[in-house]
Amino acid sequence: MKSRNVHLCRRSTSPITFIREKYGDLDGVERQIEEQLLAANRRLKQHLPCEDVRVLTDLTTLLQAVERYASLGPLGGVTREECAHLVPLLTRLVKSCIAGGFEVVAPEEEGSLSLSDQLLEACTAALSNCDSGVACRTAETQLTITLADLPSPCAVCQTGGTLQVHFGFADYTAGETGARLWAGAVGLSLYLVEHLHELFPTDTVAAPIRVVELGCGPGLASLVLATLLDRHRPLLPPVQLDVTDVSAAVISEVQKSFAERNGPSLAALLPAGDSEMTAPLQANCFLLDFADIPESLAGQYQLLIASDIVYDYTIAKHVPPALVRLLAKGGSAVLCCEQHRDGMNQFVDEINQQYSDTLEVVMARNVTETLSHLEMIHQLCATYCTLLMIRRK
Ligand SMILES: C[S@@+](CC[C@H](N)C(=O)[O-])C[C@H]1O[C@@H](n2cnc3c(N)ncnc32)[C@H](O)[C@@H]1O
Repeated sequence: MKSRNVHLCRRSTSPITFIREKYGDLDGVERQIEEQLLAANRRLKQHLPCEDVRVLTDLTTLLQAVERYASLGPLGGVTREECAHLVPLLTRLVKSCIAGGFEVVAPEEEGSLSLSDQLLEACTAALSNCDSGVACRTAETQLTITLADLPSPCAVCQTGGTLQVHFGFADYTAGETGARLWAGAVGLSLYLVEHLHELFPTDTVAAPIRVVELGCGPGLASLVLATLLDRHRPLLPPVQLDVTDVSAAVISEVQKSFAERNGPSLAALLPAGDSEMTAPLQANCFLLDFADIPESLAGQYQLLIASDIVYDYTIAKHVPPALVRLLAKGGSAVLCCEQHRDGMNQFVDEINQQYSDTLEVVMARNVTETLSHLEMIHQLCATYCTLLMIRRK
């Protein structure tokens, strides 16, 4: 792959503006929290409740701003160090909330979360985002690929301009590995951009092609593919794209990316009611455990895409049987995965040795050099990835 033209950035810097306008800077934030902590400690010593509920609502607003600020991560211009700096203070605040430093005298509305519990929740969320420094969390992200620079001679790709997709992340605790972006998704997206014409030949007419993404996480590769296919729709055969993951939180987020984040043309790809294919290009987001594939999907797909689903060995061992089951004969899978994961150690050898009747590895390419040239955050650039194409015999 020759792309050197990919840029990832946070879509919104508004949390930074908000903090600046309201508190000056993070030192201002710290001073406010410190002040409220001292007051809470005094109340605790004297066994007094907090008499002014505005103290709690203002502090909750501040903590929600910190949560959003920290969620921008390095892509959004917020360093891990500055967030980590707030961790001891936020930890003290959590302890003070639990000890009762922010109990109020005012009657609470029945059934709703008390103000002190809302404060504790906001503080825990801010602490979580500031602490481990995972570079994604709730912030929405934009990937831009400059198509004009692409080396491909294909008519489909030579329309110039840029391709942009917006995506978000599932709640970290619910989505786990699907709640952040992995380098393989960027590698796979670039491959799709550069090789669209080979994967969807324009000279063959018109049997519909079914495509599935497994373990989609934020769904970057599917969003890129859907955007490309949508642009070139009249030139291409009809396509049904099934975007799948085992996690409900992840699927609901990727559904949102199709429905709300990428404009009306991607939203229109989602089916209105039943999943029967009626439009020339359609996208369905649904739960699919690739370790337990229903009969109805067996042999249905001409193309399967996936990034970073071959990571730990327990999960990786389900991948070859899933390819065998899902792909139609002659169909292809394109996978882009981090090389150093346990599951990748023996992956190609295992396919060659144990699945030679049904699968053939037709390409295994190191894409580390490509990724290292991209304008992405350091952890993604430094990742070693292998791009595999596997054909169903
Ligand atoms: C390391 S993440 C990669 C996410 C995304 N493909 C990317 O590259 O950004 C692995 C994804 O596989 C999903 N996953 C794990 N086991 C799965 C299974 N048995 N079936 C379907 N998805 C699975 C996880 O929920 C997660 O979204």
